[in-house]
Amino acid sequence: MKSQILSEVFAELCESQTHFDSLLSKVNPSQKSKVATLLGAFLRRPFSIAEHFKIHLAESPEEFWGLSFIKLKKHPGIHAALAELWEKWESAPNEGNIKDFPPQMVQKWEQDWGKEKAAGMARLLSQDPLTTIRFHRRAFSGSDGLQPEVQAWLKSSELPKSRPGNFSERARVFRGFAAVQKNELFQKGFFEIQDEGSQVMSLFSLFPSEVMGLLADSPQIAKSKAPAVSSQLFAKPLTVIDACAGAGGKTLALADLLEGKGRLYGYDLFEKKIQNLKKRMERAQERNVQGKTLPRESADELKRFHRTADVVLVDAPCSGLGVLRRNPDTKWNRKPMELKKRENERPIAEIQLEVLKKYSLLAKDTGRVVFGVCTLTKDESVDIVDQFLKEDPSFEVEAQGFVGPFDTDGFYMCSLRKKTL
Ligand SMILES: C[S@@+](CC[C@H](N)C(=O)[O-])C[C@H]1O[C@@H](n2cnc3c(N)ncnc32)[C@H](O)[C@@H]1O
Repeated sequence: MKSQILSEVFAELCESQTHFDSLLSKVNPSQKSKVATLLGAFLRRPFSIAEHFKIHLAESPEEFWGLSFIKLKKHPGIHAALAELWEKWESAPNEGNIKDFPPQMVQKWEQDWGKEKAAGMARLLSQDPLTTIRFHRRAFSGSDGLQPEVQAWLKSSELPKSRPGNFSERARVFRGFAAVQKNELFQKGFFEIQDEGSQVMSLFSLFPSEVMGLLADSPQIAKSKAPAVSSQLFAKPLTVIDACAGAGGKTLALADLLEGKGRLYGYDLFEKKIQNLKKRMERAQERNVQGKTLPRESADELKRFHRTADVVLVDAPCSGLGVLRRNPDTKWNRKPMELKKRENERPIAEIQLEVLKKYSLLAKDTGRVVFGVCTLTKDESVDIVDQFLKEDPSFEVEAQGFVGPFDTDGFYMCSLRKKTL
């Protein structure tokens, strides 16, 4: 039975607690898009879907969320529910509702932003994710816009319809899943997959005054497009440090914005991510970037940068609630809902503040430290900055705010500068 594959992926997801994305990479390509769509939707709006198909999984949302992944896997109704989803998907509702979110998560949003906004966030975060790409500067030919081969590709039948970005000039947005990486333009480094919110954070790191108009005081509000920017705005080539580079999503965008000038360093705790970053830099033909794995304790590598960097980006580890559309399994994980984690783990806010403090030392007196997270609660955004400023009053906020989750993933970003006397 075809729907069996859905059950299998679901079972493995429950068992292994592996990221949804990495599990999908193991699914047979011919079935991947259907499995991703159905299982993703189920994880995003479990209650709405169960109610719509009259599948009895729980009496109430509270009980539903109490089930947890492991219990849900053993639930007698789950396999029938997934089979039904496979067969009757076309009639599945695509409007989420607040019941699709764990009650603790909703309470936190209501506490931070009020009931109405929390409901709006829930609706937006239960939508299917968009596929967004960021074109590299090489995809453009002079002032004429995208190169002809890129334009032809966008019009080809291999792709669903797309539209320009709402925020970033470099973005192209496809509704639903688009297999863009299959195309040779990807291998040539002409584009990367990157959500517009993430593109905005990269732009904001280098051009805060140009981009701050896009940011809002709270999540959810859609704003206008970013103005065109260029590295010509910099008087001298910059030294930029991406402290939590991961696999290099924002590092790549920063490298592109620097247009081959200056120096860019990307650090992360994990070797595998840095290896990935290096591969992507090679594909994009960016030569002024160094990726390096840096254990939590190592201070020596950083000492040489003390008060030398023009820009330090701290895209901190967080609960990831702004990217719930893309990683719906996060909802099922108890961790993001409990800031106080298990006994031997530290609260995420404590780690965020620690990383921000450590890397803020690298900014030169005229430099800038940008703190960002892909989440939407105050305790991981504005509260971290407030605490940081209490401990180091030599800094002040230059600009801060939220982007998304309307049509982008949800991010908070803040640019900090040394006060001038
Ligand atoms: C939000 S992710 C970064 C995403 C990345 N900037 C991008 O655009 O794709 C946060 C990263 O911080 C890293 N991290 C966690 N603790 C850290 C620490 N103490 N120092 C540096 N990086 C850390 C994680 O490994 C993770 O890759």
